[in-house]
Amino acid sequence: MNHIVAPSLLSADFGNLQRDIEMVNGSQADWFHIDVMDGVFVPNISFGFPVLKAIQKHAKKPLDVHLMITNPDAYLEQFRDAGASNLSVHLEACPHLHRTVQAIRALGMKAGVAINPHTPVSSLAGIITEIDLVILMSVNPGFGGQKFIESTFSKVHQLHELIISHKSPALIEVDGGVDLANAPRLKREGADALVAGNTVFASKDPVDTISKLKSF
Ligand code: DX5
Ligand code: ZN
Repeated sequence: MNHIVAPSLLSADFGNLQRDIEMVNGSQADWFHIDVMDGVFVPNISFGFPVLKAIQKHAKKPLDVHLMITNPDAYLEQFRDAGASNLSVHLEACPHLHRTVQAIRALGMKAGVAINPHTPVSSLAGIITEIDLVILMSVNPGFGGQKFIESTFSKVHQLHELIISHKSPALIEVDGGVDLANAPRLKREGADALVAGNTVFASKDPVDTISKLKSF
């Protein structure tokens, strides 16, 4: 399978959000990655439903929504109604993760689970057959533009083995500090989807950067 590239709108210019969405529409990107932060689970606040609905209005590709919030269960339906195709919750934020992923799927979305850099891949063993996507955080969540954590390479490899041994359909998505230098190795270790915020939006030619991220 050719890998998926998902530009993270967290690094977009919010004063020109429609322009940046059209840029992604016209590029080789596959998904829009959307980071929702509540200031409790992570030390930052990003945006909520009104902004998501504005994105939905213009986006012509699936919305890959990454929730960095406590108690996501209270809002699942609202995220579906705001256009989420993939909805990922953090393992560290969900005491009843199995129930949460079932609820996401029952609402017609793909269910994802994100894990922080310190959370071992083995903690996904009990849920891996029930989900469509794992987001491996390669930075501590909360901010764009951070440095990639090198131990992520071996976590991608371990997760790939876990997925194969459990015959799980889950895709591996890597999120944080992805650039043109580490992306090829991430793919070799087994990544199916690459999120890129700063690498895309801080580059001189974002459309060209996206096509470079697609082209190995
Ligand atoms: C971090 C977010 C990431 C972030 C990635 O908390 O989950 O999706 O936007 O941005 P870069 O690619 O700049 O690290
Ligand atoms: Zn993210």
